[in-house]
Amino acid sequence: MPDVRNRIEIMHGVNLDQLGRRDPDHYGTLTLTELELQISRHASELGLLTRFFQSNHEGEFVEHLHGLPGLADAIVLNPGAWTHYAYALRDALELTGLPAVEVHLSDVDAREEFRRHSVLSDLCVGRIAGRGPDGYRDALTLLREELTPGE
Ligand code: DQA
Repeated sequence: MPDVRNRIEIMHGVNLDQLGRRDPDHYGTLTLTELELQISRHASELGLLTRFFQSNHEGEFVEHLHGLPGLADAIVLNPGAWTHYAYALRDALELTGLPAVEVHLSDVDAREEFRRHSVLSDLCVGRIAGRGPDGYRDALTLLREELTPGE
């Protein structure tokens, strides 16, 4: 059987369920549902399968990560503000052993000082920020390369 690894878990953290109501200058105007639809379109163009998860509860997010090995081949995650301080999330991501890309809709490096720091980025194969919804397509493209044997 060919080694097809194409299952991507798309995970959104705290306050990302409020997209559409948050500052459009930073986060655009799409709701999370609209964003997820766009991501799944891009994923199918790339031959990838997606599953989506969002939570405002750090423990739930961590437990979801615990359950991923065997169900997903890679992760795209935008943990929202947890990115900047949630070490429990970092440990849970490391536990998955899966390749991950960190995505931010806004240009976190050009905003407040505290947003420049990520407790996850050194565990990730990539970090994409400031590209809006297109950042997710970039993340999927990166993971497809990562998952393709011999590349
Ligand atoms: C965010 C950036 C974070 O600093 C912020 O707390 C968010 C969203 C982004 O997508 O730009 O909630 O992750």
